[in-house]
Amino acid sequence: MFSNKNIVLGVCGGIAAYKACELTSRLKKQSANVDVIMTKSAAEFVTSLTFQSLSLNQVVTDMFDKPKYWEIEHISLAKKADIIVIAPATANVIGKLANGIADDALTTTVMASKALKLIAPAMNTNMYENVIVQKNIELLKQLGYHFIEPGEGRLACGDIGKGKMAEPEAIEARIKELLLTNQDLQGKTVLVTAGPTREAIDPVRFITNHSTGKMGFAIAEKAAARGAKVYLVSGPSNLATPHGVDRFDVESAVNMYETVMKLKENADIIIKSAAVADYRPAEQSSEKIKKSGDELIIKLQKNPDILQELGKNKGNKVLIGFAMETQNLIENARAKVARKNLDFIVANDLRTEGAGFAGDTNVVKIIDKDGSIVEVPLLRKSELADIILDKAISVMK
Ligand code: C5P
Repeated sequence: MFSNKNIVLGVCGGIAAYKACELTSRLKKQSANVDVIMTKSAAEFVTSLTFQSLSLNQVVTDMFDKPKYWEIEHISLAKKADIIVIAPATANVIGKLANGIADDALTTTVMASKALKLIAPAMNTNMYENVIVQKNIELLKQLGYHFIEPGEGRLACGDIGKGKMAEPEAIEARIKELLLTNQDLQGKTVLVTAGPTREAIDPVRFITNHSTGKMGFAIAEKAAARGAKVYLVSGPSNLATPHGVDRFDVESAVNMYETVMKLKENADIIIKSAAVADYRPAEQSSEKIKKSGDELIIKLQKNPDILQELGKNKGNKVLIGFAMETQNLIENARAKVARKNLDFIVANDLRTEGAGFAGDTNVVKIIDKDGSIVEVPLLRKSELADIILDKAISVMK
């Protein structure tokens, strides 16, 4: 139930506007207060009376030109909103928001509001895949706007592909997730490391691994959603920075070490999900190494073990490691808990189906310093992130 949460629903011009009617009705049934703002073109598809009847509120439209009234309206809705949902969102409105254009009731309200924002795009496939639209979406994501991806299927224009607005049920579930997350990490600082490191051989080549950063980014996102101040120290990763997270990009293990050491002081919880290279080339050539004999030997030198260093001065911090193994998972992970002075370690076997680097799921065993083991079944990385944070909170208590 949304028990009196204020949801502002922005409706843009697209045939999916009819689905926004169902969304309004669903939100009302869950006790939300819904204020609808329609763009001019939305009113070509559905009448404001439909939304008024479903929301039991006056609908803001651009149909009537009464600037004074809208001036007050957009500020009051902007302040009142717990979340602003734009469903359907057209390429036009996404483009306006990404570029700071506020020329109607919806875009001015969004821009004047500090509330959570959730955007459900709906448009023709080619339009959705257009580089400019994708860039705008990427930018908004980086600025903390949440998106619910369109689905694939037969579009109203007859084309088949991605662009169908997410179903009202899925949008409702996402709003719930965003609005009703327990703020149990309020006042806490969580430091998360993620992604691979890059160890330079020369100005052109480097040694790295297959880590994408997905697990660490999921943890950072959930920790921020649960109210924590979050520092995310990430090796090279293409992932967008989650809402409300302070991101520090690093390249090598040594860079990561230095950044983590600067940030660790205020952290209550440190989660080291980065796949840090254990070794780096002992010497970095300042020029590109030229092709010569049949063999080239690169001497490697050990990197600092960041987690082990943190473990030496653990204090009251909760310290969590990750272990990826291809054999003797439990024994190896247990040894790391002891050697690095951890509270617990999240261990996975690279060869287990659904576990590992690039996917959206993981299968892990959580091994505590007291020796107990919790076997976590196949879960989305976002779900696992919550389990790890739950356990971190129980250690803190
Ligand atoms: O010993 P191993 O590399 O398997 O340990 C993995 C854990 O240690 C991970 O949490 C990883 O982030 C961390 N680690 C580190 N610094 C290193 C190597 C690993 O912090 N140089």
